[in-house]
Amino acid sequence: MPSSCPAYRARLIGWGGYLPEPTFTNAQLAEAYQIETDDDWIVQRTGIRQRHLAPAGQVTSDLATAAAQQALAVAGLQANDIQLIIVATTTPDQTFPATAVHVQRKLGNQLAIAFDVQAVCSGFVYALSVADQFIRSGQVRNALVIGAETLSRLLDWQNRTTAILFGDGAGAVVLQAEPLMESTDSGSSNLSQPGIISTHLYANGQYADLLYTDGGASSTQTVGTLQMNGREVFRLAVEKLQEMLQTVLATHNLKGTDIDWLVPHQANIRIIQAMQQKLALPDSQIIVTIDQHANTSAASIPLALNVGLRDGRIKNGDLVLLEAMGGGFTWGAALIRV
Ligand SMILES: CC(C)(COP(=O)(O)OP(=O)(O)OC[C@H]1O[C@@H](n2cnc3c(N)ncnc32)[C@H](O)[C@@H]1OP(=O)(O)O)[C@@H](O)C(=O)NCCC(=O)NCCS
Repeated sequence: MPSSCPAYRARLIGWGGYLPEPTFTNAQLAEAYQIETDDDWIVQRTGIRQRHLAPAGQVTSDLATAAAQQALAVAGLQANDIQLIIVATTTPDQTFPATAVHVQRKLGNQLAIAFDVQAVCSGFVYALSVADQFIRSGQVRNALVIGAETLSRLLDWQNRTTAILFGDGAGAVVLQAEPLMESTDSGSSNLSQPGIISTHLYANGQYADLLYTDGGASSTQTVGTLQMNGREVFRLAVEKLQEMLQTVLATHNLKGTDIDWLVPHQANIRIIQAMQQKLALPDSQIIVTIDQHANTSAASIPLALNVGLRDGRIKNGDLVLLEAMGGGFTWGAALIRV
């Protein structure tokens, strides 16, 4: 085997999710925050029916820890079995230290390295890719990868185009190194062995002013509020994500219909449907949670993955495609055999 070939594959062995209470339906949100909107408009344009919002005092690491505990239980591991903790978040507890070290402390882990990844809504796919590199190279046996957000804390409740889109939550997975088996496939990517087959990451800072916060530690010494050019974000998300799906399929010589499950970032049902069309997959092979969770940024994919695995729709051996796009722009995908 050439030395550049990975020696291990990162297998998905645990998953969990946590959604804070209370929930707000579209009508309840409009009433609570005095937003001039209506349920029909929100459902038709976005697919969102409700969202969970963390109560005052509950921070991102609390949500992340609850999701991580579930994922550890599914994996049958103890906190100290983990050597790497990555939290993907845009809403850290503090500017520093990283939310990941708070999660480490709350879990009672003393052995892991721990840091955050900031790629906004693509954060979970980015973090998964980083953990995959640690596992492939044999540096880590068990990794905890978490997407966690209290995105509601960045919202301007006077801005109805953004205030209705987001929610809070956390999802987590445990990855474990397994020796890479010799491929029985005709191609070189070993599509049959369970684990992360490939990750595909992209960024283009040219689009930074389409989705951002108008604050930051070094600029305003505040966190700012979320600002977005919704139409442009929508247009570019569909264009870049469809291009990326084409690349992922071509890399492995697959057709869209070879994918068993699409687990997309949950930003807008119409963006999800555009990806579904690209892959020519029926509704029954897409995990959709946007109606219940709204857009939970870095948490949306692991939360959706957790829903699909827990309710038994996603089964051992299924080929699962994750994809996301977020501020930056950043975007990315991961192809996983469960
Ligand atoms: C935000 C989004 C739903 C807005 O939909 P849109 O069709 O682009 O709507 P527009 O912003 O052009 O607004 C259309 C009209 O609806 C109105 N509107 C905006 N928000 C509204 C709301 N919450 N309720 C009712 N009306 C609203 C606007 O004021 C505008 O009215 P006008 O035509 O009288 O001026 C859509 O652009 C979108 O989903 N973009 C992508 C967002 C995204 O995915 N972000 C995260 C990426 S990770």
